[in-house]
Amino acid sequence: MQNETIILRPVVREDLPLRMKWLNSEPVLRWMPIGRVTAETTEQWFERNKDDVSKRHFTVFCVKTDRAIGIAGLTGINQKDANAASYLAIGETDYLKKGIAPQICGLLARYGFEQLGLNRVYAYCYADNAASIRAFLKAGFKQEGLLRQHALRDGAFVDRAVLGILKGELTV
Ligand SMILES: CC(C)(COP(=O)(O)OP(=O)(O)OC[C@H]1O[C@@H](n2cnc3c(N)ncnc32)[C@H](O)[C@@H]1OP(=O)(O)O)[C@@H](O)C(=O)NCCC(=O)NCCS
Repeated sequence: MQNETIILRPVVREDLPLRMKWLNSEPVLRWMPIGRVTAETTEQWFERNKDDVSKRHFTVFCVKTDRAIGIAGLTGINQKDANAASYLAIGETDYLKKGIAPQICGLLARYGFEQLGLNRVYAYCYADNAASIRAFLKAGFKQEGLLRQHALRDGAFVDRAVLGILKGELTV
């Protein structure tokens, strides 16, 4: 799946060292509630996920430079209700603050609508993750609510925002 800015390519085993590096980088550790990963847990994750029809994990490439820059995916793919959750992280810091994130959010949703026949794609973001919320909003997601004290982060309960988009609402 691709647009003029980025390509979403399914994760292959060769991507795992980069995926591990990005997941263990400070901004991603702060904003994605996964925690530190190792080569072993990443390999286990890959084996567990590669044939799981409820998940699609991608490595994100920049079209202009052909470089792998981050990760994205759909999880909790629910065929009965035609919805899925989305996530993204730009791991290569040179590619941050360049307006690429809304493109990733939009392409993920497009993949869900066009390839999986979904009706709705949503995301849970920490309520203070301004960059992430802004990226989803720019792609046409709407903020639908706030889950109060939904997560425990650094010993404190924090709110999570729910953002969602319906088929036909994409703006990128
Ligand atoms: C979330 C993430 C992908 C956003 O990437 P990014 O490169 O900062 O985003 P973009 O440059 O494409 O910017 C998206 C918008 O957010 C704005 N923005 C970026 N950082 C911001 C901040 N700290 N505060 C407020 N707005 C911010 C940008 O200005 C831009 O809006 P604009 O075009 O109206 O100016 C990136 O920060 C990241 O990988 N974070 C770690 C993982 C993560 O948080 N994932 C989301 C979990 S749901």
